[in-house]
Amino acid sequence: MEKKGLLYEGKAKKIFKTDNKDELIVYYKDDATAFDGQKRGQIDKKGIINNKITNCLFKILEKEGIKTHFIKELNKRETLVKKVDIILIEVVIRNISAGSLVKRLGIEEGIELAKTIIEFYYKNDELGDPLINRYHIEALELATDEELDEITEQAKKINRVLRDFLTSKGVDLVDFKLEFGITSSGEIILADEITPDTCRFWDTYTKQKLDKDRFRRDLGDVESGYMEMLQRITGQDKV
Ligand code: C5P
Repeated sequence: MEKKGLLYEGKAKKIFKTDNKDELIVYYKDDATAFDGQKRGQIDKKGIINNKITNCLFKILEKEGIKTHFIKELNKRETLVKKVDIILIEVVIRNISAGSLVKRLGIEEGIELAKTIIEFYYKNDELGDPLINRYHIEALELATDEELDEITEQAKKINRVLRDFLTSKGVDLVDFKLEFGITSSGEIILADEITPDTCRFWDTYTKQKLDKDRFRRDLGDVESGYMEMLQRITGQDKV
């Protein structure tokens, strides 16, 4: 497999083509952004940590029957993945109240929700990823009804698997974002990343934040939050 030209550069990752039309290379950067790109910075070694964390969690999910884009880790910052057409829906799963939910509904942060909430956002940077529902998705043809049912079922299963795993590591999975894609053979699989950039992770006992909220809210010691999650998830305490 040979690395070819840059296909796409996002806020936290670059995607390269390969000599195989069905495979891409993801490169994880240290760049961090928040509030629709208004706040920018760097988190030292974030790319290395996020590459490892995503691959470890995707392997756990694969073992539980969730199909993902993961093929193999190539080096500290790069992973070979299956090429997919990304579905333009960001799926957010919430177990505990935080973030935009708290602001939108005027509820307190940190409340265990009586039922898991699944939300859909239109993946569109220019519009700031607006909240949408099933009707918008069908009207804009972002996914069919059947595809959305499948995405929802997969999201619920991913939540169950990740919650169980993280509970055993002393971490509360507060909320997180998933992206799905369609392979050349028409299969819907999990893509993108699952990292402290895309999840809220709280220590179960101290409720300390171990995720990007440290960067978003200037809570300090951002790198050590990411390192702590690397250690809890992979057992690795160095990068
Ligand atoms: O900001 P909000 O509370 O809606 O975020 C919910 C979850 O989704 C958080 O874990 C956040 O990190 C993640 N998210 C994301 N990318 C976005 C929006 C939210 O990873 N564009």
